[in-house]
Amino acid sequence: MKRLKSGKKRAELTALGTAAVIDASFDVKKGEIFVVMGLSGSGKSTLIRTLNGLWAPTQGSVVVGGTDISAISDKELRKVRQEKISMVFQHFALLPHRTVLENAAYALEIQGVAKAERTARAEKVLSMVGLGGWGEKYPSELSGGMQQRVGLARALCAETDILLMDEAFSALDPLIRREMQEQLVVLQAELGKTIVFITHDLNEAMFLGDRIAVMRDGEIVQIGTPDEILTNPANDYVAQFVQDVDRTRVLTAGVVMEPPLAVVTISGGPRNALRTMRDLQVSAAFVVDRRRKYQGIVRDRDVMAQVEKRATDLAAVVRNGIEPVSPETALNDLFGRAVESPIPLPVVDDDGRLVGALPRVTLLAALGNVPSTTGEFPVVEVAVAPIPEQMVTAALAQYEGVAK
Ligand SMILES: Nc1ncnc2c1ncn2[C@@H]1O[C@H](COP(=O)(O)OP(=O)(O)O)[C@@H](O)[C@H]1O
Ligand SMILES: [Mg+2]
Repeated sequence: MKRLKSGKKRAELTALGTAAVIDASFDVKKGEIFVVMGLSGSGKSTLIRTLNGLWAPTQGSVVVGGTDISAISDKELRKVRQEKISMVFQHFALLPHRTVLENAAYALEIQGVAKAERTARAEKVLSMVGLGGWGEKYPSELSGGMQQRVGLARALCAETDILLMDEAFSALDPLIRREMQEQLVVLQAELGKTIVFITHDLNEAMFLGDRIAVMRDGEIVQIGTPDEILTNPANDYVAQFVQDVDRTRVLTAGVVMEPPLAVVTISGGPRNALRTMRDLQVSAAFVVDRRRKYQGIVRDRDVMAQVEKRATDLAAVVRNGIEPVSPETALNDLFGRAVESPIPLPVVDDDGRLVGALPRVTLLAALGNVPSTTGEFPVVEVAVAPIPEQMVTAALAQYEGVAK
């Protein structure tokens, strides 16, 4: 401890033993998924085992819901573990001679819950993890992905607030693994557990983590949200990890969107709208109401026709074929739509207000980690050139003096 405190590194002290976790200080907030990520040997498993009291820290404390578990008796510790903490392991650790249902209900059996109740609760969690109807099978009759669902069901069945998951999905095939990640996110939205999730896979960390702690050689080198770590890695070690990440799953519309420039208001009327589009040299514009709620888009040709008819109503030519997206949408889910849409996708907040625009070029730039903000990306309809400026000006001039 003394040598570590004077700045010695793990590698310099191997003759004295392994400093598995060094000076790791952090809080996990109630209801968050806190991911600990690092290469093999960086100390993740040691860390998680101190969190549930399996191993005691040489120095420092581990506080779970107000109780310092490094300072209580074994009996009290068992109680905390039983009531507050569940664990999901990499290699499932199912009991082979028990059925799926009995495995799921195992923690309840230990707690002495009556059979009828534990069966009912186990059946419920099995169907939550997609294993309804599989209760009578044995673990060996299930695929790896299904066995890990049983592992998850067993942890959920105990109804503890805290879930510790050590490389829980690392043994699964990539597609199954991804399915499990997505299911965990869905379950978490419903259950709101406090989850510490350990992985050596940055994509997984980025997808699941509300916050991520990056470990190296026993030390935590950075703690931050996925966005913070991706856009602002603390050092070369983190930066190297980040290079390989599938950015499209991590980055959201809200992070890469651009300010929408060509925006017109319904109440401003057709002539104002046409003027704005002429000045910005665009063939389409987003339409909002007075409170900036998104209404749809207008095209210059339609607006010009209104002006020529001396119509004062812009609402009549608003099109709402482009479904707006929420700032939380992952870019991954937007490529299909962006490719089909010649117009940037409107990004709209929970109150329906237009907060940004996502042009195709921005999506592509985000993929390649090149600066994405053009700073001034108007609503350009790529397929159709805007009406020539002189024509618009002439049309506006012809009807000058006409009330809008
Ligand atoms: N029981 C043990 N006895 C001695 N050294 C160990 C033990 N368990 C792990 N270590 C060492 O502690 C370090 C951290 O290991 P671990 O916490 O398992 O890392 P990770 O889970 O990130 O792969 C490694 O150098 C490992 O060799
Ligand atoms: Mg480990």
